[in-house]
Amino acid sequence: MAGESEVGVLRALELFCGIGGWRYALGERGQVEAAYDISPAAQAAYLLNHGEACLAREVASLPRSQILAHGAHLWMMSPPCQPFCRMGNQQGLEDSRSRAFLRLLEILDAAPPDHLVLENVSGFRGSEAHERLDGILQRHGFHCAEFELCPTRFGIPNQRPRFFLVASQKKLLLEEPPDRVPDVVGKYLDAEEDLSLYLSEAILAKHKPGLDLVRAEDRRTACFIGGYGRRYVGSGSFLLTDKGVRRFSLGEIARLLGLPSTFRLPSAWPLETRYKLLGNSLSIPVARWVLNRIDLDRH
Ligand SMILES: C[S@@+](CC[C@H](N)C(=O)[O-])C[C@H]1O[C@@H](n2cnc3c(N)ncnc32)[C@H](O)[C@@H]1O
Repeated sequence: MAGESEVGVLRALELFCGIGGWRYALGERGQVEAAYDISPAAQAAYLLNHGEACLAREVASLPRSQILAHGAHLWMMSPPCQPFCRMGNQQGLEDSRSRAFLRLLEILDAAPPDHLVLENVSGFRGSEAHERLDGILQRHGFHCAEFELCPTRFGIPNQRPRFFLVASQKKLLLEEPPDRVPDVVGKYLDAEEDLSLYLSEAILAKHKPGLDLVRAEDRRTACFIGGYGRRYVGSGSFLLTDKGVRRFSLGEIARLLGLPSTFRLPSAWPLETRYKLLGNSLSIPVARWVLNRIDLDRH
């Protein structure tokens, strides 16, 4: 097991890192020793924002020695959610995209870190993957807590209900999640709107009846999924203004996710890909709250 209770820098691993949402949530409380992602677009975004490259490695074939060499106290992960998605094939561990997660379970069982946090879609709860993870954590004596959390409870007008699991060799700092009234959507909008985001008459004629429409004074938006940049119905909210109906901008979605104002997406990548990177990420304030259940300061 990695360095039990030494006082010093908390070393973290970020697995399936995407744009580095968990890293933002961890902030100054720890140091990411290594992050892994196979997507070139995610690698570009990670480097742009964190100034360090993530490792372009397939997690399914990682040797245990490579993971252990990082000496991490904390594993932070958001495994691919498609196997557990309502809109996916729901094949769970049978899905080839679960191979990487299965590999991590093997390593976890053989050499558990001190702490672990995981985020996934609600469909993960009760899956075989979830059961196997719970079994390993129990066998190794972890203190565990699981939550279904949505940014709306944190005062953010965005629905993104997600399953979170936190596990630690130390007692968890448990408390009730916040229960605030969400702000108005207008607070998250760009000061100057991008007129190219407005939908054409032809698109509106085809899709308007199915769109999730919100106004600046509303207090909710629907979850922005990875396909928001190319789809209309069921992919996230669209803003109704006196000029028409428009997509939310990348910056507006980044703000709703709680990403810092310095956050950028690599402009060389198509707009659809940049929307996908955001849609795959997580709510930073929610992830931070989950991390705060661990006594990280005395790790
Ligand atoms: C749900 S997203 C995680 C997003 C991340 N939490 C964030 O804040 O952006 C899953 C990520 O895992 C990566 N991924 C999927 N399968 C992988 C594998 N087998 N090995 C390494 N990375 C993988 C994807 O490229 C994707 O960026």
